[in-house]
Amino acid sequence: MTNPATTSLWNATAHRPTPREGSLVDGDHYDVVVVGAGIVGLTAALELARAGRRVLVLEARRMGSGVTGSTTGKVTAAHGLRYSLLQRDIGPERTRMYAEANQRAVGWVRDLVHTEEIACDWRDRAAFTYTSDPSQKAELEAEARATIDAGLPAHEAHAVPAPTDLVAGVRVDGGGELHGANYCAGLAQLAEAAGARILEGVRVTGVRESDPCRVRTEDGTTVHGEHVVVATHFPIFDRGLYFARLQPQRSYAIAVRTDRDLPLGSFYDVATPSRSVRTAAGPDGEELVVVGGEGHGSGKESDTGERYARLERWAAEHLGATETLYRWSAQDPETPDRAPFAGPLRPGSSRLWTATGFGKWGLSAGTAAAHAIAGRIQGHDDEFRELWDPSRLGQLKPRGAARMALWNAETSAFLVGDRLRPAGRRGPDGLAPGEGRIVRHGGRRTAAFRDEEGVVHAHSPVCTHLGCEVHFNGAEQSWDCPCHGSRFDARDGSVLEGPAVRALAPRDVD
Ligand SMILES: Cc1cc2nc3c(=O)[nH]c(=O)nc-3n(C[C@H](O)[C@H](O)[C@H](O)COP(=O)(O)OP(=O)(O)OC[C@H]3O[C@@H](n4cnc5c(N)ncnc54)[C@H](O)[C@@H]3O)c2cc1C
Ligand code: FES
Repeated sequence: MTNPATTSLWNATAHRPTPREGSLVDGDHYDVVVVGAGIVGLTAALELARAGRRVLVLEARRMGSGVTGSTTGKVTAAHGLRYSLLQRDIGPERTRMYAEANQRAVGWVRDLVHTEEIACDWRDRAAFTYTSDPSQKAELEAEARATIDAGLPAHEAHAVPAPTDLVAGVRVDGGGELHGANYCAGLAQLAEAAGARILEGVRVTGVRESDPCRVRTEDGTTVHGEHVVVATHFPIFDRGLYFARLQPQRSYAIAVRTDRDLPLGSFYDVATPSRSVRTAAGPDGEELVVVGGEGHGSGKESDTGERYARLERWAAEHLGATETLYRWSAQDPETPDRAPFAGPLRPGSSRLWTATGFGKWGLSAGTAAAHAIAGRIQGHDDEFRELWDPSRLGQLKPRGAARMALWNAETSAFLVGDRLRPAGRRGPDGLAPGEGRIVRHGGRRTAAFRDEEGVVHAHSPVCTHLGCEVHFNGAEQSWDCPCHGSRFDARDGSVLEGPAVRALAPRDVD
């Protein structure tokens, strides 16, 4: 459900084709069934359809309306303070692979947009990772060296015009910016022109790896695919135990009016608090500024509204923002060693594939991963296989292993601790409009939310993924799970984001 107060600039201004509706017939057979129509699913579908495969794409909601429709739209291999961390965590050789895979993907997106004339407001832009904090100067100089060593077209940047004072930084060339939802619509049209079938509003609830694979949808229909690509962002069929190896991070963005002229570029100031800044076209073609930041672990923030307020105060102070037109938030999981996962869904799978863990840089990394999977389905080698093989975690260095252990310890603490926390004594009656709380009702812990019309919506607070207790997210009016990031609509309990595939169980509060 879309809350108009928290809609991304891209989802609000998307030129999506008419909904792709249609019926599925039990037993229908495809070469490849792709689950999820974000940048990963649609890129893979396009590549496979162009290679002559019969492709079916099943999307639970609307194409490009997931995380890809809620990004800041920067297509670059410059990924924050990543290259120095990657060098430490996965070594120089794999760091170069990461750089090369991403830079190639950036070029592929740019060329596709130009040759196919995809109307997605593409802008050629250099990316600046920098700091406005003098105490981080040495860190940024190290990042510049690591980025250059990784083989990217990069150089140190000093005293370049930027939205905040640029003390030290690195500039990476060759990238750009786009409108994520419109880029997905373009990918979908090209995939359909190449013969792919896309259906929206179809939630997949089960997949079985067999010959052929069986894909079950919410209405009980089963279709067959020689291969299945699980491109649901967080893998929904967790045979590879991804939930223990991924940490979803939520962050916030606003699109504001300003009366100042801002320098052109994809800017990311890594000072505390970190801020991402770019310009983009608003609904009437006027230039807006998109500001992002305020990241935190998904489901672990009690005052999400304050996160927007902080971005707005910062934009007013540093960019002369006069009005906020859109505000939105989204999440993306990261992996313990900061390289994505792309490959078989579980060790030994030869027909089930997935790609995830882009750490908020999936426009390039997701494109690269989709190419790798599409290639492997066609029997090609993947030259970056050892970089993102999902089963590589046996090779984790101590820091990566420690991060993963910490995530799992936190999850266990939520699983046990939340159930012991006292539930609100006042029951649903005490809720103000727009408020949600865990209350005790009829002797049971209940997730209760009162909407602006005064109606109370009550559900079981038990996340349908693995049973942690959900937390209320006031800004998005959703119930968010702190364990692995599943999110549920506060009104009808439906799944907004996986890994859960089933809605929260409704509760009667009359
Ligand atoms: C705030 C923010 C800003 C970001 N900015 C950038 C940026 O500037 N540059 C960059 O490179 N990256 C950025 N990212 C990261 C990037 O957006 C993601 O990594 C990328 O979009 C992930 O693409 P995806 O296809 O995996 O997921 P999605 O786009 O979410 O696609 C998954 C699709 O699967 C569907 N689905 C889920 N479950 C089911 C099911 N059971 N059945 C059928 N369909 C299902 C969903 O509805 C969705 O449409 C940002 C991330 C965040 C959170
Ligand atoms: S998302 Fe895993 S328990 Fe909720």
